[in-house]
Amino acid sequence: MTSQDYINLEDKYGAHNYHPIDVVIDRGEGVWVWDVEGKKYMDFLSAYSAVNQGHCHPKIIAALTEQAQKLTLTSRAFYNSQLGVYEKYITEFFGYDKVLPMNTGVEAVETAFKLARKWAYTVKGIKEYDAKIIFAKENFHGRTMMAVSASTDPDCKEGYGPYLPGIELVPYDDLGALEKALEDKNVAAFIVEPIQGEAGVVVPGEGYLKKAHELCKAKNVLLICDEVQTGLARTGKMLASEHEGVRPDVLILGKALSGGVLPISAVLADDDIMLTIKPGQHGSTFGGNPLAARVAVAALEVLKEEKLAENADKLGKYFREQMQKIVDELEIVTLVRGKGLLNAIVIKPTATGKTAWDVCVELKNNGLLAKPTHGDIIRFAPPLVITKDEIDWAVETIRKVLVKFEAENKPITEKAG
Ligand SMILES: Cc1ncc(COP(=O)(O)O)c(C=O)c1O
Repeated sequence: MTSQDYINLEDKYGAHNYHPIDVVIDRGEGVWVWDVEGKKYMDFLSAYSAVNQGHCHPKIIAALTEQAQKLTLTSRAFYNSQLGVYEKYITEFFGYDKVLPMNTGVEAVETAFKLARKWAYTVKGIKEYDAKIIFAKENFHGRTMMAVSASTDPDCKEGYGPYLPGIELVPYDDLGALEKALEDKNVAAFIVEPIQGEAGVVVPGEGYLKKAHELCKAKNVLLICDEVQTGLARTGKMLASEHEGVRPDVLILGKALSGGVLPISAVLADDDIMLTIKPGQHGSTFGGNPLAARVAVAALEVLKEEKLAENADKLGKYFREQMQKIVDELEIVTLVRGKGLLNAIVIKPTATGKTAWDVCVELKNNGLLAKPTHGDIIRFAPPLVITKDEIDWAVETIRKVLVKFEAENKPITEKAG
């Protein structure tokens, strides 16, 4: 079968809830993937930062295959021989009393949301059911009804009401607005991404998270950091909140917690928060399964052993320096921003009507896979095992594509920015 045959199958038999770039990936290793015709590409998206450790990392795959032959799922009706080991490992790794294991990122956000409400009623003393949770505008926390209710993105929100009550929104990176919202004594928590990934890698001003935490503390409000995308070495530290010396009251992880092998997510918190949830009040058939537990330990070990946060920090700075030269040289690209190896560029509108999408198609034709987010923004997030030579190749490929794109599509400068 050809790539087109596979695309036709998905189009005919799959729901149309995604709009992929036309490439059918068949195999992956490290930062590289191959399509069904055998053409090689550099993966510059890493499955939205789930494949931080690189595709099919041998240590993670070894843990997966070994455990898969022994025991995969017991449900939480019984204990299993991997979960406790993993729980000890991850709580010591991040310095929290307890972990609550889930599967997808959005489930972990949902879990943190429920935890905040339960804590509000049983510890903080908010009257049932008056608790409010604050979110930042332009957030992305997934697509369940809770996440959609908290979203300001019309694409994922419209047509799905009625929405969940008890959600307040403040502009991102606006401490004044947060301070005002926190005056309401029914606020239980502020759920925030340290860098807004899906919004286009929006990095808040220095000191934002630290000050937000102080404001929350002063009002006995939980700071909940959604580090599903920013966590696990992506931004040059194990957690993005570490850049500001912040230890969130509740930490949400997902994606790279399995190195892209299985859906594994986690919520971490101390006992005064976590133990408000009692047996039977929350859970998931697959959450904490022995296969996931074993894989997550291996995935975390790889991040540490291979110093992937340090690599992301070093090569991220280098990548932005190189990209800045392209921004200075060309008119078509407005800016480069990011932290570690979570970066983005902004493409100007063109007289021909071609957009960041068309740039990504050209990048793909030249062997580099990236995807636009929010129209004019292209996110660049390669696996963190990438080398300097590979970054150099990527920068040269991006430059070549943008030079040609600009020659063929004149930017409309007055709409720049
Ligand atoms: C910050 C953040 N939270 C939550 C999610 C949802 O994760 P999942 O797609 O695994 O449910 C994402 C996914 O991109 C994310 O970026």
